Amino acid sequence: MSDKITWYGHSALALEINGKQILVDPFLEGNPASCIQADEVDTEFILVTHGHEDHLGDTIPIAKRTGALVICNFEISEWLRNKGVKTHGQHIGGGYRHPFGYVKLTQALHGSMLPDGSNGGNPVGFIITTLSGHKIYLAGDTGLFFDMRLIGEEGIDLAVLPIGDNYTMGPDDALKAVKLLGPTYVLPIHYGTWDLIAQDVNAWANRVEDETQTKVLVLQPCQSFTLPE
Ligand code: NI
Ligand code: MN
Repeated sequence: MSDKITWYGHSALALEINGKQILVDPFLEGNPASCIQADEVDTEFILVTHGHEDHLGDTIPIAKRTGALVICNFEISEWLRNKGVKTHGQHIGGGYRHPFGYVKLTQALHGSMLPDGSNGGNPVGFIITTLSGHKIYLAGDTGLFFDMRLIGEEGIDLAVLPIGDNYTMGPDDALKAVKLLGPTYVLPIHYGTWDLIAQDVNAWANRVEDETQTKVLVLQPCQSFTLPE
């Protein structure tokens, strides 16, 4: 079975892994870059990297409507569970075999306060080892950290990295991240949503492809990429 990724703009993604639907950071309503409405998506799982509004997004209404299981850090899982959402809490360094693959949480250098000011624990990234053996690294919102080299040692097929600067890595550090991770493909996200994080993604793609072996996936919102088997 093939593994497909669709970018919905900003940090929102849809993964299709072995026929299972997984949404990531579904900030759709109020997201100027979004190409889809919250009530149009169908999913069985939702991954949330941290508590910020532009990532938690429409998690609660989507999870309630679809019955999706939300996979996130323990603090956010408790906060969501108290709002009637089905959750699976994990934490940094911990992995669990979900029906679409093995999901391990990684560190991310960022904040995670929830919209009501609650403590959202530590922000995370995800390494998904799909049933067909692909490794997908979703960095979440983060600054550069040297331990990305250890993540790279797992053999990453696709890394999804923020490049927008201001709140996360900008283009220079994201290029360093690609060098530490050594993925086959990189998908840049978290740019262009607002002027504050505007970037020339094609210029960044050229730098990455000049200086590394990694292929850059420059997608438009709602465009997809299927990983070769
Ligand atoms: Ni954030
Ligand atoms: Mn963000």
